Amino acid sequence: MHIELAPATLNDIEALTALARRIWQATYSQIISQDQIDYMLAQRYSLPRLREELTQPTIWWDLVRVDGQLAGFASCLLLTESREMKLDKLYVDPHWQRQGLGERLLAAVIAHARAADCQTLILAVNKRNAQAIAAYRKHGFVVRDSVCVDIGGGFVMDDYLMARPVTMNEAQG
Ligand SMILES: CC(C)(COP(=O)(O)OP(=O)(O)OC[C@H]1O[C@@H](n2cnc3c(N)ncnc32)[C@H](O)[C@@H]1OP(=O)(O)O)[C@@H](O)C(=O)NCCC(=O)NCCS
Repeated sequence: MHIELAPATLNDIEALTALARRIWQATYSQIISQDQIDYMLAQRYSLPRLREELTQPTIWWDLVRVDGQLAGFASCLLLTESREMKLDKLYVDPHWQRQGLGERLLAAVIAHARAADCQTLILAVNKRNAQAIAAYRKHGFVVRDSVCVDIGGGFVMDDYLMARPVTMNEAQG
C-alpha cells in the first residue's frame, strides 16, 4: 500500500469533514450522546472554521492518504504563550487503524513542533476513549491533568490532558 502525507488544502475540506463524521460516529457513539456529537462536529468542522484554520500560520493540518484515498488527518496549533504545541485532532479511518498511520501523522505534528521550537506536545482526550488513550500512551504521552470543560449547549468535555516531550527516545514510548 502507498502511504502519502500532505498538508490539507481548501480543496480537501469536503472529504475531510465526511471522514471526520464517519470516525466520530464510530468512536464517540459509545462515549457521548448523538446530540453532543452533532454539536461538536458543527463547532469544529464547519466550513468557515476549517477555511479559517487552513489559513492560520499557527495551525497545521496534515492528511494521510492510502493508495490515494483519504485515511486520516491531524491538526495541531501553537500555544504561543507557553510555547507548547497542542495536538488538536488525530483521526484515522477505522478501516486503517492500528497500522501505524496515527504514528505517521504524529510524526508530522512532532516535526511542526520542532520547527516551532516547542519542547512539549499536549492534547486533551475524553476519559472514556480508551483506544486513543492507549495509542497516546504507546506514543509517549502521559496524563498531566484531569479537566471537565463546559463547551456550551449543555455539554461538557470530560478529558484527560496528556503531554509528551517533543524530543524523546522513541523506545521510551
Ligand atoms: C487514536 C488513533 C488516531 C490512533 O491511530 P492508529 O493509526 O490506530 O495508531 P497507530 O497504529 O500508530 O498506533 C496504534 C496503537 O494504539 C493502541 N491502540 C489502538 N487501538 C487500540 C485498541 N482498540 N485497544 C488497545 N490499544 C489500542 C495500541 O498501542 C496500538 O499499537 P499496536 O497496534 O501496535 O498494539 C485511532 O485509534 C483513531 O483514529 N481513533 C478514533 C479517533 C480518536 O479517538 N482520536 C483521538 C481523539 S483525542
